[in-house]
Amino acid sequence: MSAKPVLWIARKLSDATEARAARDYDVRLNPEDRVFSADEIVEMSKQVDAILPCHSEHFSADVAARLSDRVRIIANHSVGVDHCDLTALGERGIVVTNTPDVLSDATAEIALLLMLAASRRASEGDRLVRSGGWTSWSPSFMVGTQTTGKRLGIVGMGRVGLAVRKIASGLDMEVHYSNRRRLPPEIEQGSIYHESVDDLLANVDVVSLNCPATPETTNLMDARRLALMRKDSILVNTARGNLVDEDALIHALKSGHLAAAGLDVFKTEPGGNPELAKLDNVFLLPHIGSATRETRDAMGFRALDNLDAFFAGEEPRDRLV
Ligand code: DGY
Repeated sequence: MSAKPVLWIARKLSDATEARAARDYDVRLNPEDRVFSADEIVEMSKQVDAILPCHSEHFSADVAARLSDRVRIIANHSVGVDHCDLTALGERGIVVTNTPDVLSDATAEIALLLMLAASRRASEGDRLVRSGGWTSWSPSFMVGTQTTGKRLGIVGMGRVGLAVRKIASGLDMEVHYSNRRRLPPEIEQGSIYHESVDDLLANVDVVSLNCPATPETTNLMDARRLALMRKDSILVNTARGNLVDEDALIHALKSGHLAAAGLDVFKTEPGGNPELAKLDNVFLLPHIGSATRETRDAMGFRALDNLDAFFAGEEPRDRLV
């Protein structure tokens, strides 16, 4: 029997994922769950046939060029692959996969949480009760914005965008979207298509960012586009921090043009943006869109499915390059 491929699992994954991986591969684990530097990733690559990283491991063009020839596949435990230079990895002949589908519902749940929390001033209210500063009540106290029946604009109607729409339908929201391509009628299901993001922004009350981070979408929500959003509208981001010019967002929130924002992702991660954190009208989470037990298992299994296919000589289902 031939030896099992050596697989490096770069972060601590779910128990079920690690158990399955240990059954089928010669695994190198990271029980302390520390983050490896670029040099350490290159060093580790000399000992392994495959790497199963998360979005926290960066495979820049420089790292891709320095990876050992031994590495044949990078099976990401993420749907987003902005941490990978796909062109550079492809040129090295390294196969790259991701984990679409399995995290759409969990991420949509967080989008809804952000939407409701931002519009109903949840961080302000939570802080007030915890601090013991809640000393009175009146009908004018902590009045927010209702979400039910409002117009929701989804930027990027892929798998996560569609899952956000499904949840939003429970709130009777009128769904608008912009997307690289208009969806066929059976998938569009009456949602209102806008050819440009600009047009979408001017016509909705809540904007949910659900598109991938690419060079083209960097700072998609810049000062000009934030100004196009309707006065008192709400911005929600569960995709990637790179989509938003955070200084411009802070300005739009401070000036009162936007009522609030709900953010699960930031330009700087971990850590977020201390200036955003000073504002009352933002609700902030630490990149936990896919962080449910069910979804972590599903992401791990999907990454392993891709590895199994590759090492069986088949085409991995989620191959990107
Ligand atoms: C993803 O899968 O892209 C999530 O952001 C977690 O990495």
